[in-house]
Amino acid sequence: MTEILVEKPSEYRLFIGRDLKVPKPKVPLAIIYDPKVGYLAEKLAGVNNQQVMEAIPGGEESKSLAVYERLLRRLAQAGLPRDAEVWAVGGGTITDLAGFVAAGYLRGVAWRAWPTTTLAMVDAAIGGKTGVNLPEGKNLVGAFHPPRGVYADLTTLATLATNRFREGLVEAFKHGLIGGDWRLLEPWELHPQADALEPYLARAAAVKADVVSGDYQEQGERMKLNLGHTLGHALEAASNHGLSHGHAVAYGMLFAALLGRQRGGADLTEHALTLLRWTEAPSPPTASWPELAAYIGRDKKKRSDGLRWVVPYALGDLRLEEVPEDELKSAFAEWRELVAGYAG
Ligand SMILES: NC(=O)c1ccc[n+]([C@@H]2O[C@H](COP(=O)([O-])OP(=O)(O)OC[C@H]3O[C@@H](n4cnc5c(N)ncnc54)[C@H](O)[C@@H]3O)[C@@H](O)[C@H]2O)c1
Repeated sequence: MTEILVEKPSEYRLFIGRDLKVPKPKVPLAIIYDPKVGYLAEKLAGVNNQQVMEAIPGGEESKSLAVYERLLRRLAQAGLPRDAEVWAVGGGTITDLAGFVAAGYLRGVAWRAWPTTTLAMVDAAIGGKTGVNLPEGKNLVGAFHPPRGVYADLTTLATLATNRFREGLVEAFKHGLIGGDWRLLEPWELHPQADALEPYLARAAAVKADVVSGDYQEQGERMKLNLGHTLGHALEAASNHGLSHGHAVAYGMLFAALLGRQRGGADLTEHALTLLRWTEAPSPPTASWPELAAYIGRDKKKRSDGLRWVVPYALGDLRLEEVPEDELKSAFAEWRELVAGYAG
């Protein structure tokens, strides 16, 4: 078992391993869980004083204000007190949703995350961002509300579809670029039973823990976590969400790698291409640069100070930069060529 300390804004620990010891706080619990990992929720409930058990299917549809309200009302009807804890058991959609329920109920009660996807283990459950979607867009409502502990039990990954398992590791790969850890750039041999999985996920989680401890409210450093996401979000939107988030980010990282190379940085494109092959990314939408730029422009409106790209210059050397339109266009032309030639 590996233990990682997140220092800010409040101290909490990440536990990564198999068959983790279940904490037993002497307070009532509300366990919000994905039925796909119902057995884990039952196990947690079995050794604790659980007062509410609520199954919510994982997926973006569950990250809604309607489900949020239903859960809050369920907690209120059960008379859950202020010292109660909410436990989230599932992938990133469940940890985002249940964390936000904890942030809102009685102006905030404690919560713990039991992430059950690779993505949630290395990314979503760490850092205290919680929230739900609106019809107008993803993650538009939420709160910063750090958990009291994160328990990544690797045994749960045995039932996760292989494509989900690998796509989650796209974010771990990204953490490798951010943290300057080349070992994270080679997940090729990993599978749920691999011995190397625990140290790999622990290293990836540690990068996120470090970044959020240094920049909790996303003023600067934390923006590096957006590597690959600017073009990635546009590709997701242009494909009508037919292209998954993991694949879209992997394509976005290839684009960022091209920008880095173009600006005099190291050549990281081969790694990004290998990642696309390993995750079996389907072809991206055929949208033109102006079409994608329009989506990017819409994203950009969410910041008032203009758009900065996360550009990788080398392993561990990522810079936030404004990039002139002609450079973006020429990197995009190269990207199209590489993508057309890659055997996905
Ligand atoms: N808060 C953050 O900082 C942050 C960061 C990154 C992503 N996110 C959010 O995370 C979400 C994506 O997370 P995700 O990919 O885990 O999605 P998810 O929760 O939808 O899980 C993916 C699928 O796997 C299933 N599943 C979960 N665990 C399983 C298991 N052990 N075995 C079998 N099936 C299982 C789910 O039912 C679902 O169908 C997005 O909503 C995204 O916005 C949040």
